[in-house]
Amino acid sequence: MERSLSMELVRVTEAAALASARWMGRGVKDEADDAATTAMRDVFDTVPMKGTVVIGEGEMDEAPMLYIGEKLGTGYGPRVDVAVDPLEGTNIVASGTWNALAVLAVADHGNLLHAPDMYMDKIAVGPEAVGMIDINAPTIDNLRAVARARNKDVEDLVAIVLNRPRHEKVIQEIREAGARIKLISDGDVAAAINTAFEGTGVDILFGSGGAPEGVIAAVALKCLGGELQGKLLPQDEAELERCRNMGITDIDKVLRMEDLVKGDDAIFAATGVTDGELLKGVQFKGTVGTTHSVVMRAKSGTVRFIDGRHSLKKKPDLVIKP
Ligand code: FBP
Repeated sequence: MERSLSMELVRVTEAAALASARWMGRGVKDEADDAATTAMRDVFDTVPMKGTVVIGEGEMDEAPMLYIGEKLGTGYGPRVDVAVDPLEGTNIVASGTWNALAVLAVADHGNLLHAPDMYMDKIAVGPEAVGMIDINAPTIDNLRAVARARNKDVEDLVAIVLNRPRHEKVIQEIREAGARIKLISDGDVAAAINTAFEGTGVDILFGSGGAPEGVIAAVALKCLGGELQGKLLPQDEAELERCRNMGITDIDKVLRMEDLVKGDDAIFAATGVTDGELLKGVQFKGTVGTTHSVVMRAKSGTVRFIDGRHSLKKKPDLVIKP
């Protein structure tokens, strides 16, 4: 992959964030998602690459845009696989709360796990705790290992967990261990990434969320030198069959970084839609929209924060409220 691709890809997440941010707090999530998807799709057409969607908005028969298998880019340039989540946190935008992102990840062809749309159990940490966690180990052991690695007491750690009834047990175990908890309503991609940034105040992610989100977060953590481990959680026979079709016969298989994203190169880009610990959300004033993005590349380890000031004069739909 050429290094200039990173900068091109930020334009894609910026467009998706600008489009969906207009729907902030309006109580509707599908409209926000559609706006992000359409904007993302349009800008992809201008990116010099031969891309194929491997994680997207659904299968060809259920998603008009950014469906799995869809070709993206100008058709010239590197042959890459693309994972997109035009709006990660549809409910977040609908309610105008924290950490909605427009995100994508790109890797050389064949290097991203084609994660099916099902739950994945996840554990994620930043660089200091790499090699110390084990998704199969008791919660207390993982907390102690991360505390040791980060030179903190367990009581000083902050574990981030999606606030769901299915996480009652792990939440209880974290509380019993004495660590602090940040319960979030949605958005475990941002949560996983935040473990790799000191200033966000988060040390470890526990719990299950979408498998596609797991792969996208793994790309970001690969760029940042962090670690995510996952285990697919098929809920019924149809989902089990999907796992088998992917070649995963051992359902308890721990998916490690190299299973989630192979090779030494990958790019991750995200733009804030609503405010978060890492990225501010989109702000509008008249015909100007401002964005805050991060783009990173695994090969070089470069992490760039990019602030954009966008003229919306040619995008009247973003100036006039929906
Ligand atoms: P959407 O943007 O598709 O709504 O996903 C938001 C999200 O919170 C993800 O970050 C997370 O992986 C998943 O949903 C969790 O799923 P569920 O809401 O079913 O617990």
